[in-house]
Amino acid sequence: MAAAAAQDAHEQLLHLKLAFLAGEPPACVLALARKAGGGSVTPDVQNFLLESCIGNKADGRQNCTYATTILKKIIAEVELSSSVVIDGLYEEFVERMLSKAKDSLLNRADHIYKDISFLSSTHDNNSPRLLSVVARLSCSSNMLEGDTGCSLWPASLFLSEFILSYPKVFSKKCCFELGSGVGLVGVCLNYVGASKVILTDGDASTLTNMKANMELNNLCIEQEDSTILKESTNKVECKYLSWEEVSERDLWGYQLDIVLGADIIYDPVCVPHLVRVLSMLLRRDGKHGKTNAKTGDEFVTEAPVAYIATVVRNVDTFNCFAKAAADAKLSIVNVTSSAAPSNFLPYMLSYDRSSVQLLKISLLS
Ligand SMILES: C[S@@+](CC[C@H](N)C(=O)[O-])C[C@H]1O[C@@H](n2cnc3c(N)ncnc32)[C@H](O)[C@@H]1O
Repeated sequence: MAAAAAQDAHEQLLHLKLAFLAGEPPACVLALARKAGGGSVTPDVQNFLLESCIGNKADGRQNCTYATTILKKIIAEVELSSSVVIDGLYEEFVERMLSKAKDSLLNRADHIYKDISFLSSTHDNNSPRLLSVVARLSCSSNMLEGDTGCSLWPASLFLSEFILSYPKVFSKKCCFELGSGVGLVGVCLNYVGASKVILTDGDASTLTNMKANMELNNLCIEQEDSTILKESTNKVECKYLSWEEVSERDLWGYQLDIVLGADIIYDPVCVPHLVRVLSMLLRRDGKHGKTNAKTGDEFVTEAPVAYIATVVRNVDTFNCFAKAAADAKLSIVNVTSSAAPSNFLPYMLSYDRSSVQLLKISLLS
């Protein structure tokens, strides 16, 4: 009984720390701090925040504005409840206020490093949850920066959970993502052993940020024209790809198995172009498809499939996509329930998993 309670307390503190590192909204971090303290932010929880979260500046990647906001909220909440605010919290707040001023002078305040930790789902009373994969991402606090591609969207969290839940689907497969944004899906594809990972985006500043993120995760970036790329495994290619501009020729040479996309169906103007790109990528022909090794027939190929995670914000836009896809002879199957991913992000209160739909798309034969 006591062991189970200790395990529970340990897990709540772990969730608090991971939420802070993931840059969760301050209200969510505060909610977890309250939960860890049994209803209030106790001095023990304040100490934990100070020592394990806010005070841990070892790698110098923390965003002062974010940490200062968390501190401010915690201090205000504890003062309001007439409880004790530990001295260290006040001291850290003052120090942070000074660094924050320096940050804004250097114009670094708009980006935040997020550590997205996926927790293994195997959990019993004897062994705590283990961290299976952690992706480090520089993200903008301005959701519109880089044509929305410098922020992390819930659909890519869902797609990443899907990849980690069904690793065999992606292992040893050549995976090609559209509208990759900050690149989280690429980190997960690498983790499950995809033979090739090609991330693409049509926004130049998003691409620059994505490449920096791949380096942050120790993933090797290959140049598009590199011959080594064609033979090597576990390399990430970050490619400029605009759905409006891309031609068949730009896609020659990619022997794709799986096409991916997260939160890319939202602009009705882009929909016809997106469907055109999907049709090109999913086409079963010698240029793109893979020869089926089992049949040995060079004309019979395994057709690639696409997995698109999407939040339906506007039904008309989604219907427009569905119609354009049907006209292009693409089959769309909603696999949200039948292929539901595990919950690897239990500490992320801001992530509404139920808002995301997962579509499996293939070319009708
Ligand atoms: C809402 S963001 C999603 C980013 C990422 N997949 C995620 O879920 O976190 C949409 C992404 O699609 C890209 N995008 C939008 N329109 C595009 C187009 N016409 N061609 C190529 N990329 C486009 C944007 O640059 C942005 O990175």
